[in-house]
Amino acid sequence: MKLGIIGAGSVGEIVAYTSALRGIATDVILNDIIKEKAISQAIDLNDGRPFYPKDVKFRAGEYEDMKDRDVVVVCTGKIPEKDRLQELEGNKREVANFTKRIVNAGFKGIFVVVTNPVDIITYEIYKVSGFDEKRVIGSGTALDSARLEVIIANKLGISPKSINATVLGEHGESQFVPWSQVKIDSLTIDMYEEIHPELFENFNRDEIEDETRRRGWDIFTGKGSTQYGIANTVNNIIQAIANDEKIVLKGSCLLSGEYGLKDLYISTPIKIGKDGIEEKLELSLTDKEMGRLKETADVIKKHIKVLDL
Ligand SMILES: NC(=O)c1ccc[n+]([C@@H]2O[C@H](COP(=O)([O-])OP(=O)(O)OC[C@H]3O[C@@H](n4cnc5c(N)ncnc54)[C@H](O)[C@@H]3O)[C@@H](O)[C@H]2O)c1
Repeated sequence: MKLGIIGAGSVGEIVAYTSALRGIATDVILNDIIKEKAISQAIDLNDGRPFYPKDVKFRAGEYEDMKDRDVVVVCTGKIPEKDRLQELEGNKREVANFTKRIVNAGFKGIFVVVTNPVDIITYEIYKVSGFDEKRVIGSGTALDSARLEVIIANKLGISPKSINATVLGEHGESQFVPWSQVKIDSLTIDMYEEIHPELFENFNRDEIEDETRRRGWDIFTGKGSTQYGIANTVNNIIQAIANDEKIVLKGSCLLSGEYGLKDLYISTPIKIGKDGIEEKLELSLTDKEMGRLKETADVIKKHIKVLDL
């Protein structure tokens, strides 16, 4: 698979590295507004070539060089101190600019978007590119869902691989956990609690939701970036495209009536294969959860209005 990365910073470099470690990409072009940075990242990543499971070549390139890529991952921008929505003003013009240049150069692949605020920037790329919605995917709350799975796993002493938990809504402050959807293998979390009440003595759902929401900020405070969760999240999407996996992952997609919502990008489980988003799965939420979904959708809608479309 031919991969392109726009923004060879903390996220971009580990997305590239993870794709090599997992044997997904064979040819990677890194782009950064700081050209020397993209060149150095490519040289450094090439030094690992003898060790990756499959050979993969890295080089630096321009936006126009993305024309033959199967997937372009967008991870420009800079994490702000408090709320991902603060990034919108700074990122929206640059993203519109390079999206046009990539598309005008003849890019026919799939955009996978990480740049924050990711739901709004993904919508922008969908609009500016003119691509079919299937070919513009936001990482959305996939990372938050992985974080939630890890937090629950640690509390219950069970592998995160046995937990299926979804964070819904904005990848941002208004996200929430629909607890009715959290499963330990095929048991709902309520059923699991009935079997093992002793494991739930210190299991406070509101606190876990807060911890999940805060996780990115807690990491950022210590190291100034978050990388490994997002890089694996993005590589799950890229791998699903590369291998036509038809796997259901969480991600931000255009809703057209699901949950009574339309014309916004927001997360729900999506089936991903070689052509991108093949199906959007609508979860069966409680009335309270539907109310929270509407609230977080309102936040996204409000910020979509700020885009110059
Ligand atoms: N969606 C998620 O789950 C998630 C997770 C982590 C980070 N993020 C977001 O990813 C983005 C990148 O974060 P980071 O920690 O890698 O930041 P970073 O500052 O380390 O890297 C960003 C890179 O983008 C480059 N850049 C900026 N404008 C550019 C342009 N117009 N063209 C090409 N390159 C450009 C910068 O020079 C820099 O190297 C931020 O928006 C951040 O909020 C999203």
